[in-house]
Parts: sequence; structure tokens; C-alpha cells
Amino acid sequence: MNTVEIIRKKRDGHVLTTAEIDYMISGYSTGEIPDYQMSAWAMAVFNQGMTAKETADLTMAMIASGEQVDLSQIQGIKVDKHSTGGVGDTTTLVLAPLVATAGIPVAKLSGRGLGHTGGTIDKLESITGFSTEMEIARFSELVNENQIAVMGQTANLTPADKKLYALRDVTATVDSIPLIASSIMSKKIAAGADAICLDVKTGDGAFMKEEADAIRLAEAMVEIGKHVGRTTIAVVSDMSQPLGKAIGNAIEIEEAIDTLAGKGPEDLTELSLVLGAHMLTLSQKYTDVAKAREALEIAIQNGSALEKLKQFVAGQNGDQDQIEHPEQLPQPQQKIEVKIEKSGYVTGIFAEEVGVCAMLLGAGRRTKEDEIDHAVGIRLHKKVGDEVKAGDVIATMYVNDTQYVSEVQERLLQAYTIADVHVTPAKLIRCIVT
Ligand code: URA
Ligand code: CA
Repeated sequence: MNTVEIIRKKRDGHVLTTAEIDYMISGYSTGEIPDYQMSAWAMAVFNQGMTAKETADLTMAMIASGEQVDLSQIQGIKVDKHSTGGVGDTTTLVLAPLVATAGIPVAKLSGRGLGHTGGTIDKLESITGFSTEMEIARFSELVNENQIAVMGQTANLTPADKKLYALRDVTATVDSIPLIASSIMSKKIAAGADAICLDVKTGDGAFMKEEADAIRLAEAMVEIGKHVGRTTIAVVSDMSQPLGKAIGNAIEIEEAIDTLAGKGPEDLTELSLVLGAHMLTLSQKYTDVAKAREALEIAIQNGSALEKLKQFVAGQNGDQDQIEHPEQLPQPQQKIEVKIEKSGYVTGIFAEEVGVCAMLLGAGRRTKEDEIDHAVGIRLHKKVGDEVKAGDVIATMYVNDTQYVSEVQERLLQAYTIADVHVTPAKLIRCIVT
């Protein structure tokens, strides 16, 4: 096969064969195809797009470039959830124990990564003793015992995606639907999921700012799932303001505890129930989404959801008492209030900015080497649609290092838009793609 021919074929808008896609991905993975040819190919895909079949082939080729996690020792249908990323998204911490209460296996491989706050593992490590380092055998055992476990990703999954993603980042080819869809789906499938529930975010705190683009991405991923035999459902949800009220690590654990106890923010609770109900149907335990949701609501009301979180934490050597007494989680030296200067209604909260503020306080990593401060973050007291009076506290900064406090204070105030007229918040659940 000839690399130039394949680039030209895609450039001119033709459909590539499975063998041609395999050739490009394996060649790039081994280093036989250089960056400059792969860049040209990625730009050709960016411009011409890919058919559903090509996108599925690309996904499978990237999976084949690395290891796959073998979760066959775990009983039942393993449903994984993936969010395309937002700000202060505590959903996984709520969803994992919630869904496990219904007896479906939640086997989550998670990373640390970069971002406004830590990844799921960093958040869980706010709990004293919590450990995510283990072998797949122990991990499988834990899931069989407790229906839930989270472990750090050690296997070399989809190295081709890693390399291609880094290349796309510097060649203006990130925002291509087939490239994003195959990138995300390859990682989930390689991590051992039998079925996948996607939370595709839209709004200014999200990767896909426009709802129409988010829907197209959702459709592309669901389509990949169909082609490769992993049933996939996507929920398109709002990220035009931060989800929930806590942005950080320990404070997001606390928010998850509140939500599992039925006292969480409305938006986080609703999204968790919607995603959870779909996960239950994907697991084939339920055929009816409404009945599945009802089961989850009952688990929150009767305390079994919170009990499951404790069991999960104990299973991974974490201190259960901190779940019962969240005030024992890492606390900052100072809590500093941010007060609004004018009266009116909150009409917008620039999610991305709030995320950056949390990171400046130390809740996230800018580079891989950065250390996370589990105790710091931001708690929002006002959300879109709320009335505010001059002098009201709109947010609290959880602070240890005071270096960026005045900057964060200023940026948080700027992140809020206040107007004289009331607006209704954007609809949380935009659509479900199946
Ligand atoms: N997230 C991914 O994992 N891959 C992309 O290409 C974009 C977002
Ligand atoms: Ca949150």
C-alpha cells in the first residue's frame, strides 16, 4: 500500500477501505508513517469526513494498536459511562455507586489527566487511605463482591490514539467529528466495556459549544457502537454553566455524598438519574427507562445508594467515616466569600472561567507534574435563574495558597452575568441518542 495514494484518496473525498485505514494507523503507531504524512491525512479527514463504516474501522484500528483490558472474570454486562468533559462534573462519583445498587457491575478504569479539577481518581484520593492501585484480578474480585471498583489505568491502551491526538492538537484537526468519536470510543472499548453510556456536553463549558455539533458527535459515537457490537446510548446535556455547585476534589466528594443522600443539587441529581436509568437498561436488567429510574430514586431514598458508596470506599481501603462525616475530609485553611456588587438575576455563569479559577487555587493540574491540593476549590451559591442582591455571597473560595486569591475573586465576579430580567436556565437534558 502507498501512503501518498491513501492521503490523496481521502483528500479527493473517496471512501477508504478497512485495510487502508489499518495501514495508516498501524504504520503511524510503529513510526513507519511520519508525522507530516499523518498530518496531511488528518487534515484530509477533517475536510472530507468519514462514513460510519470508516469511523468504526478507525476505532478498531486504534484499539488494535495497544492492549485491551480483559474483564471477562467479572460477571454480568459491564456498562461504562463517559463524559466528554465539563466543569465541576461530579457525575461519575454519584453514578458509579448509584448504578451499583441495582446490582450491575461498575468496573471503572480511570485516569488522572489534566484539567480544571482532578480526575475521578484524584477526587477519590481526597479520602484517607483510598487506593486505586491493584491488579486486574483483584479489581475483578472487588467488582464481583461489591458491584463497584475504580482502578488507575496501567495498561497501554490505544497508543495510536495518544499519538494521533497529540498531532491533531498542533495541526488544527482536533474538532473533527469522526476523529473525536473514534478517539473516545476506542478508549472505552479497549477498557473492556460491553455497553457504553455517553454524556455529551454542550455549551460554553464543553468541547462542543453548539448543540447541533454535540448531537452530531453523539450520533457518530452511537453509530460506532452499532458497527462494533457494543450498544451505546448518548445523553446530550447542558454545560452552559457548571454542573452542581462544587468544583474541586474533596468538595466534589462531599457533593456526591449529599446527592446520594438525596440532598444534592437538582441538576446533578437529575443528570445522574437520567444517565443511571439508561445504564440500567443497557445492562439489560431493566427494559423500561422509567422503571429503572424509579429503582434508582428508591435507592437514594432508602439509603442504599449512600451505603454502597461506603462499601466501595471500604473495599479500596478508604476511611468510611469520612463518608459519614464529610467534615473530616481535607479542609482548606481559609474559606473566602465572594460578594456580588449589583442586584438582579444571574443570567449566565461562564463555566470555563470557573474551572480555570478552581485550577488557579490548586484544584487541578496544568502540567502532569503539578500536585493537586485536595482541599481547595470553589463552591457556587448562585446559579442561572437565581435572584441576587448587592452584597450577596455568590461563591466561596476554598483556599490554602493565597497567591491567586485576588485574581480568582475578580475572575469569578466576571464569570457571572447579572441582568435586570429573570431568565430560565437552559434545558439540562437536550436529547437522548440511541
Ligand atoms: N477527547 C478525546 O478523548 N479525544 C478527542 O479527540 C477529543 C476529546
Ligand atoms: Ca460539581
